[in-house]
Order: sequence, then C-alpha cells, then structure tokens
Amino acid sequence: EVNKSSNVVWHQAAVGRSDRETSNGHRSAVLWFTGLSGAGKSTLAHAVEERLHAMGTKTFVIDGDNVRHGLCGDLSFSDEDRVENIRRVGEVAKLFVEAGMLTLTAFISPFRSDRAKVRSLLGDGDFVEVYCRTPLEVCESRDVKGLYAKARAGEIPAFTGISSPYEEPESPEIIADTGTLPLDQCVDQVIIYLLDNGYIK
Ligand code: PPS
Repeated sequence: EVNKSSNVVWHQAAVGRSDRETSNGHRSAVLWFTGLSGAGKSTLAHAVEERLHAMGTKTFVIDGDNVRHGLCGDLSFSDEDRVENIRRVGEVAKLFVEAGMLTLTAFISPFRSDRAKVRSLLGDGDFVEVYCRTPLEVCESRDVKGLYAKARAGEIPAFTGISSPYEEPESPEIIADTGTLPLDQCVDQVIIYLLDNGYIK
C-alpha cells in the first residue's frame, strides 16, 4: 500500500504497551469476531466484554454497525469498500492494543485475505480469530433486522451470504457455535481460551 505521508517521523512513547500490560495485570490483544450478518458477533463480543470487565480487565468493543456511522461512514458494501473498512478497523484495533486493551471487534469481515492482513499487522498472538458459525439458514430465519428479507427482495445490493460472498475462516483460534449453543456457553468458551493461553489470569 502507498503511504502518502512524507516527512513524518515515528514518535516513541515513554509509556509503552508493556508498561500498560504490567499495570493492567493482563495482556492486550484483539478478539476478532467474524461471521454472517445476524450470526451473533456483536451479542457475543459484548457478552464476553461484560464478563471480562467484571473480572477487572480493560476492554473495548469496536462494532461494525457503530463504526459505519462515523470512521467508516464514507464506505459502502462494495468489495473494495469492505476491504478498506477492515483495513481501517485493523489499524484502530492495533492502537487499542498499544493502549493495553483486550479489544473485541465485531465485523462481518467476509474476506479471508483481509483477516489475514490484520493478523499479520498485529502479529499472531495478538490476533485471536473467533468464528461465529451460525449458518446462513439460521441467520436468515432469525432476520433480526429484516435485512435478509430486503436482500432477497433485491432491495439491498451485495448482501453478505445472499449476493456477496462470506469466506469461512480456515483455522480460527475459536469456533463459537452461536447458532446452536446458548450465549453463556459461547462466552465460557472464549474466557477459557483466554485463561488457557495466558491472556488473562
Ligand atoms: S464488512 O463486510 O465487514 O465491511 O461489514 P460490517 O462493517 O461488519 O457491517 C455489517 C453490518 O452492516 C449492515 N449491512 C450489511 N451487511 C452485509 N451486507 C450488506 N450489503 C449490508 N448492508 C448493511 C448489517 O446490519 C451488518 O450488521 P451485522 O451486525 O453484521 O448484522
């Protein structure tokens, strides 16, 4: 990618990530929730955050629907704009990791290559991919926002799962069966992963 900023010198902060991690008492990282619209990404991310917060962890959720009101309000759902959406979110997530947060992102992020780019931007251990594996039929039958009906009626172009692809993760750190398991059980699964892998104590 072309960087158009010239004559810009990186400023090294006196207080670094590891200082923040030490005072927080836990690692920082990104929990990257991916899945179809209506798969339960936001619901699971916020429920995990609630649990982590209660445990005294510093957390923040970056949510697709919200980011598209501001930072990414100029982007559509074309392939190219989705790529840019995920690129920006990856960069923002990286800042939150520097800030010492366990950062939770909830974006469809349909393309494998974009998720791979964020993974390499952050580095392997800092990127925990959580696949919210609710099947299309279940998302569509729930249709919480009524978007699938609109997409089927041809009122929303390039709708994920209907007229735009979703590329399933091949080796996510966590597969949450958000279509069949109760929310609490999915939350437990994520928390146990974080404990077992030393992100939190
Ligand atoms: S992406 O693909 O990662 O850039 O999408 P994201 O930023 O997560 O935004 C997904 C939410 O936008 C709403 N929406 C659409 N989704 C998919 N395709 C199309 N065409 C579309 N248009 C609007 C939808 O409410 C998604 O919310 P979630 O929470 O995923 O259901």
